Amino acid sequence: GIPKFVKIVEVGPRDGLQNEKNIVPTDVKVELIHRLVSSGLPVVEATSFVSPKWVPQLADARDVMEAVHGLEASRLPVLTPNLKGFEAAVAAGAKEVAVFASASESFSKSNINCSIEESLARYRAVTHAAKELSIPVRGYVSCVIGCPEEGSIHPSKVAYVAKELHDMGCFEISLGDTIGVGTPGTVALMLEAVMAVVPVEKLAIHFHDTYGQSLPNILVSLQMGISVVDSSVAGLGGCPYAKGASGNVATEDVVYMLHGLGVRTNVDLAKLLSAGDFICKQLGRPSGSKTAMALSRV
Ligand code: HMG
Ligand code: MG
Repeated sequence: GIPKFVKIVEVGPRDGLQNEKNIVPTDVKVELIHRLVSSGLPVVEATSFVSPKWVPQLADARDVMEAVHGLEASRLPVLTPNLKGFEAAVAAGAKEVAVFASASESFSKSNINCSIEESLARYRAVTHAAKELSIPVRGYVSCVIGCPEEGSIHPSKVAYVAKELHDMGCFEISLGDTIGVGTPGTVALMLEAVMAVVPVEKLAIHFHDTYGQSLPNILVSLQMGISVVDSSVAGLGGCPYAKGASGNVATEDVVYMLHGLGVRTNVDLAKLLSAGDFICKQLGRPSGSKTAMALSRV
């Protein structure tokens, strides 16, 4: 059977806003995070401490973290690509971080400018420093189904990187279909390979909705025992270094499906919809959530 409770990891303020053409003002980001936290989401990924030359959209990471400092209701992790980012995140008050590796060698190079092995060495340094400070570290694996340059990625490559992240102490490993090419068949094969080396309780799934496959992919993952799902309010998102990658699966649609299945999430859908409405008005475009579109007409 599927889990009774699913932990949703909201990635909109990070995965969503990192890919916006126009830079979103800091106070809008902060208001969005506040609204997402008040909707009951247990985890809201807030920003990234990456190079501002690579991702200018999140150059205000320190200001964002300082502004959300008092918010205790949700965990507010941030992305850190190396020790420099980790130290900056901690100095800004981050209490949880995430490192991000790739199952594709070419994507590792284009996203973080190093090989998979070099990235794992950097992340060992980050997890080591984090352990000293009792800071939990999440690990991402990107391109778990396909890569924009290499095409299909073999599940054994995903399993290898996931196990390395787990062995270095990541408390959770999020498996990212960065370009959204997976279908339930390829997702199930990938999960089988990863579940053979990392306990399923430690795994999360992270789907981009390029081909509209996210909800069936999530459902098959739940049936295989996964109980942590990443999603983005209003379906914002995409990686600036993955050409053609569209937004993440919309949190509103995930919540609608889960509640329909009788799965608890702790999320108040009405409050979540209003957070989505807020950011879409700010960005001046319609929501990427079908649920938000449907419910705005009634
Ligand atoms: P690099 O150029 O190889 O780094 O970039 P470097 O170590 O040679 O340093 C170059 C400059 O960057 C130096 O500054 C450093 O100080 C600075 P300069 O001397 O030129 O003035 N620098 C930093 N500044 C701020 N914060 C830092 C930092 N590190 C170095 N942490 C680097 C390597 C990893 C930094 C760069 O490639 C980078 O920032 N990449 C991030 C790309 C990114 O954020 N991608 C999106 C997130 S991943 C994603 O979306 C996928 C995911 O959603 C899952 C999925 O969907 O699959 C997670
Ligand atoms: Mg992503």
